[in-house]
Amino acid sequence: MGWTTAHVPDQSGRTALVTGASAGIGFETARVLAARGAHVVLACRDTGRGRAAAERIDGSTEVVPLDLASLASVRRAAGLVRERYRRLDLLVNNAGVMFPSYRRTEDGFEAHLGVNHLGHFALTGLLLDLMTSVPGSRVVTVASLAHRVGFGRLDEVAARSSTGRRSMTAYGRSKLANLLFARELQHRLAVAGAATVSVAAHPGLSPTALWHGDPPALARPVAAAGMRWLAQPVEAAALPSLRAAVDPAVHGGAYLGPSERFGGRGAPEATRSSRAARSGAERRRLWTLSEELTGVRYVCEPAVLEAPASAAETSSAPAVVVCPVTGARA
Ligand SMILES: NC(=O)c1ccc[n+]([C@@H]2O[C@H](COP(=O)([O-])OP(=O)(O)OC[C@H]3O[C@@H](n4cnc5c(N)ncnc54)[C@H](OP(=O)(O)O)[C@@H]3O)[C@@H](O)[C@H]2O)c1
Repeated sequence: MGWTTAHVPDQSGRTALVTGASAGIGFETARVLAARGAHVVLACRDTGRGRAAAERIDGSTEVVPLDLASLASVRRAAGLVRERYRRLDLLVNNAGVMFPSYRRTEDGFEAHLGVNHLGHFALTGLLLDLMTSVPGSRVVTVASLAHRVGFGRLDEVAARSSTGRRSMTAYGRSKLANLLFARELQHRLAVAGAATVSVAAHPGLSPTALWHGDPPALARPVAAAGMRWLAQPVEAAALPSLRAAVDPAVHGGAYLGPSERFGGRGAPEATRSSRAARSGAERRRLWTLSEELTGVRYVCEPAVLEAPASAAETSSAPAVVVCPVTGARA
C-alpha cells in the first residue's frame, strides 16, 4: 500500500497557500490540507470560481485573487497575504496553463513560461520571508513529465517569444523551468540555513481542465491515448504534491511523482528528472534571467563564495557567488 491521504499528518495551526486552487489538482490539494486542519489560502485567478471552490471545502479557507499572467496582480496578491499573515507554512506553486487561448502574458512573456514559471518565481520571492524562519515550512512546485520535452533555450528569446501558444515544447520548457527553479531555491535556502525547504512534484497524467486548451492537431490523439492508458483520477494526481508538502521523510531538493506506468499513475514516490533539469549552470542562468524579467530580486546578505554543488557541474560552471536568501523585495 503506497502513500495516501491517510498519511497526511495533522495540519492544525499551519497556513498553506495553494495557487490555482479553484480546480483540478490544486483544488484537491487545498481540500485535503484543509480537511487535515490547515488554514488554506486559495490563490485564484477567478475569485468567483475560488469562492465556489471554498464552499466545497470542509475547513478554514480564504480566497485571494491572483493572476499569474500579470506581475501587478502577483504583487497585489503578495501584498494582501503579507497584510493578513505573519507566517506561511506551505506555499504550493500549482497553477498552470497548457495551450492557452493567449500568446503572451500582460507583461509580454510567452504564456506558458510567464504563468507557469515567472509568475510563481515572483510570488515565491515576494512571500519567502514569511517562511524562512518557520520550522517545517516548504515551497512545493508542481512540474510535469513534459519537462522532458522542454527542448531549446530558456532565455530572453524564449521568454519574449509569441510562438508558443500551441506548442508542447513551450509547455515543457515552462515545466523544466519549474524544476530548475525548485532545485536552485533549495540550494539557496540550504546555503542560507533557512528553515524552509523546496520540493518538486508532478501529478502524472490526469483528465483535468488543463487538457481543455487549444492543442496542436497531432497532440489530440496522442493525449487521448495517453489518458486511456496512463491517467489517474485527480484525487490520486494530487498525492505527489501533498506528500511533497507534508511528509516529514521528504527532504529539500526531492522530486516526487507517480510510481507506475512510466510515471503516469500510481502511488507518489521519489522520481527522476531529465539531465537538463539537473544542470547547476542552467538553474543559475534561469534564476538570473527570472530576476531580471520579473524585477523581483531575492535579497541576499551576506554573500558567501559557494563551491559548485557537484563535480559534474565544475567543467562548465564558473565559480559563483551564491547568496543566502532572507526574503525578497521588488
Ligand atoms: N492534469 C495533468 O495531466 C497534469 C500533468 C502534468 C502536470 N500538471 C500540472 O498540474 C498543475 C495543475 O494542473 P491541473 O491539471 O489541475 O489543471 P486545471 O484543472 O486546469 O487547474 C489549473 C489551475 O490553475 C489556474 N490558473 C490558470 N491560469 C492561471 C493564472 N494566470 N493565474 C492563476 N491561476 C491560474 C486555473 O484557474 P481557473 O480555474 O481560473 O482556470 C486552475 O485553478 C499545473 O501546474 C499543471 O501543469 C497537470
